[in-house]
Amino acid sequence: MKIGIVGGTGGMGEGFALRWCAKHDIIVGSREAQKAKEAAANYMTAAKQALPSMSGSITGDDNISLAKDCDVLILSIPYEFIDDTCSKLAGNTRSDCIVVSPIVPMARTDSGFVYIPIEQGKKPAAELVAERMAPRSRVVSAFHTISEVKLKNTAQGLDTDTFICGDDANVVAKLAELVSEISGLRPVYLGPLSLTYQAEVLTPMLLNAARRNKMKHPGVKLT
Ligand SMILES: NC(=O)c1ccc[n+]([C@@H]2O[C@H](COP(=O)([O-])OP(=O)(O)OC[C@H]3O[C@@H](n4cnc5c(N)ncnc54)[C@H](OP(=O)(O)O)[C@@H]3O)[C@@H](O)[C@H]2O)c1
Repeated sequence: MKIGIVGGTGGMGEGFALRWCAKHDIIVGSREAQKAKEAAANYMTAAKQALPSMSGSITGDDNISLAKDCDVLILSIPYEFIDDTCSKLAGNTRSDCIVVSPIVPMARTDSGFVYIPIEQGKKPAAELVAERMAPRSRVVSAFHTISEVKLKNTAQGLDTDTFICGDDANVVAKLAELVSEISGLRPVYLGPLSLTYQAEVLTPMLLNAARRNKMKHPGVKLT
């Protein structure tokens, strides 16, 4: 499978690349092609050491070029840049490309981390993505509560769950398969994309609890 990671030069992008290159061809994206190529080369060096039997690859390109021929596109960018980034990507993807939002709209205030859609009356991240990257049926959200530190550490399984939201059962199933390929990560279907706020809001909650109780990178696991 060809997996493109828009904003793949960030911490989450690195984690996704290292986890999925075992089986898939990963294209790390950036606004600058050269930055993407350098990040991809570094990830590839790390991957070869960590996964001697990897059968996939990691290359780099600018966000727009890579989007043109991907089976799956991960939007690994901050919430503030959804509009601008998606307006450039929208006409440049295959119609059957699955679009994944791990984006958490979050801000830090005096009381702690807060969820921007509640505080500022804005839309949940995946709802914004769905508006910009129609058709809505190909958009799914997941990975909101996965710490980049744990994702990048391929020596360890994650031992956690991630909620998936999406409207199309086939698209959700394909993403669930990709989630399951990450060691120790269990996909849990939460419901249609209209419920994405319930998954997105968990991240500021977890970070507040972690900070006040001195916990490192807590996750969510249904028992
Ligand atoms: N970090 C975590 O532990 C974590 C956990 C769960 C979910 N998330 C979510 O996952 C997403 C990625 O997280 P991250 O920590 O990897 O993000 P990040 O490091 O803050 O940013 C990722 C990439 O976004 C690109 N970017 C920066 N400004 C941009 C702009 N104006 N327009 C377009 N792209 C821009 C940058 O790539 P270039 O400069 O190369 O273009 C950057 O490397 C976020 O939405 C975050 O909420 C993060």
